[in-house]
Amino acid sequence: MSSYLDQVVDAIAAVVELPREEIMEAVQPPPSPDMGDYGFPCFQLAKALRRSPAQIASELASQVQVRPPIREARGVGPYLNFFVDRPRFIAEVLGRVHSLGTQFGASDEGAGKTVVIDYSSPNIAKPFGIGHLRSTVIGHSLYQLFRFLGYRVVRVNHLGDWGTQFGKLITAVKHWGGGMDLASATVEDQYRLYVRFHKEAEADPSLEDEARAWHRRVEEHDPEARALWQMFRDASLADFRRMYDLLGVDFDSWAGESFYEDLLDDAVRLAFETGVAREDQGVILVDLSEYDLPPCLLRKSDGATLYATRDLAALLYRYRTYQFHRVIYVVGAPQNLHFQQLFAMVRKMGFDWADRCVHVNFGHIRGMKSREGSLVLLEDVLGRSMQLVRDIIRERQLDVDNVDEVARQVGVGAIVFADLSRRRIKDIEFNWDEILNFEGETGPYVQYTHARLCSLLRKYGEPVDPSADVSLLGEPEEWQLARTLEAFPSAVCRAAEQYEPSIVSSHLLEMAAASNQFYQRHRVIDPANPALTRARVLLVDATRRVIANALGLLNMAAPERM
Ligand code: ARG
Repeated sequence: MSSYLDQVVDAIAAVVELPREEIMEAVQPPPSPDMGDYGFPCFQLAKALRRSPAQIASELASQVQVRPPIREARGVGPYLNFFVDRPRFIAEVLGRVHSLGTQFGASDEGAGKTVVIDYSSPNIAKPFGIGHLRSTVIGHSLYQLFRFLGYRVVRVNHLGDWGTQFGKLITAVKHWGGGMDLASATVEDQYRLYVRFHKEAEADPSLEDEARAWHRRVEEHDPEARALWQMFRDASLADFRRMYDLLGVDFDSWAGESFYEDLLDDAVRLAFETGVAREDQGVILVDLSEYDLPPCLLRKSDGATLYATRDLAALLYRYRTYQFHRVIYVVGAPQNLHFQQLFAMVRKMGFDWADRCVHVNFGHIRGMKSREGSLVLLEDVLGRSMQLVRDIIRERQLDVDNVDEVARQVGVGAIVFADLSRRRIKDIEFNWDEILNFEGETGPYVQYTHARLCSLLRKYGEPVDPSADVSLLGEPEEWQLARTLEAFPSAVCRAAEQYEPSIVSSHLLEMAAASNQFYQRHRVIDPANPALTRARVLLVDATRRVIANALGLLNMAAPERM
């Protein structure tokens, strides 16, 4: 769906030589309403064209084509400003939100196209780290975004369920696991074994040989080794699933690294046949110097495969299976090189779909402290957040029927929003007081804004009237609110294009701010003025709907009471 904001940007793009995104960034509301509704500064063009910005602005004003509800383009000083027929604009927006409801902002641009998203992807028998939390939260929001835009989305959890760590774990169980119930061991129990292995192996290096032998037995399908491996995997998964349930996250495929076991030889062979891989002193590697990248190792001299080999097999499999329009890997920035190499390999192998592979990377979270100070357990973080919200609900005596449910929605939402409210590549400084502050730019703040609008509609008590006379909405706060609602679909498209959920969260904050400004300045329910009341109620109803849609795209609940 194209918004009026998009129309303005398109109109400018038709007459100036600038990339569309740059124009989008530059368009802002002018400082005062009598100067117009959308403004485009011409300073930058002035430098390139060697004329004054004011001259350029008035020239452009005579060239651009506008159509209703945009009335006119005019040079105002150094700005090219657009004037909107506000009553018509507001009527159209509120009408659209009312009729489209949960689909306002959605589109069918993705019809017939498949997007594969690889996210979360934790490692078996290792703690679900904060990096995996970021991957889960960003990946799941991208899933919601692409689905909203009509794509078929396949959510893949590429579990780290293969590799030498299983040999170490089995060795540890054999030596020190007596009496341990493996089937119900938590990830924490498993991880402790792993840590112990490393400590003991320092003193006794023969343990490493033992671990290698067990690892080989897993690979060779030795029944005992396989059964132990399976038990570790199941116990870890049960643990992870509890967390996914709290977060409201699920997957279509749990094909982890082990799934590709039988496809590894084929992948390496294909790399040979396409003339890409070569043997060098017993190892198999792919030279990537033409891409300015170090070579990628596919097989070690003892025949063992690597993380990269399994990712190559997985990527080839995914293309065969899903014929994807895009495959998106949501993995932290420390793996930048790995994905550059992976994508360069398939390009070198001659696959033209290599440029449909995207690494969506992200920065670190700092300041999340765990019980022992070292190992951060996500479950502790979520649990603590929910507990803090429960305390707040009690202290503030909030209007909540189901404390546990709302504590979950708001507690989890606070963490999710803290993650998604900044550009993903930025590191996050985590601070409990900040993320739970109802007045800050936080999850609880936007959820509370939504709940307050719902409470107002409950108080009004009558059905919302879509034919209310919205030409009565002439206040600047009403206009400001309507225009942010109108721009929501455009924010959704940009967020998907840039794989950047923070574009939705920033927009959500803008809508919440506009909503609160309006709410503070104006009385919505005024018995002395029923016509105005009906119009304002329609605006309030549209606002809570669009805010709920935005929350949904971030994978946050929209409680109606809090
Ligand atoms: N398990 C990996 C890790 O924890 C992440 C896997 C990401 N996905 C992939 N296809 N490589 O570092």
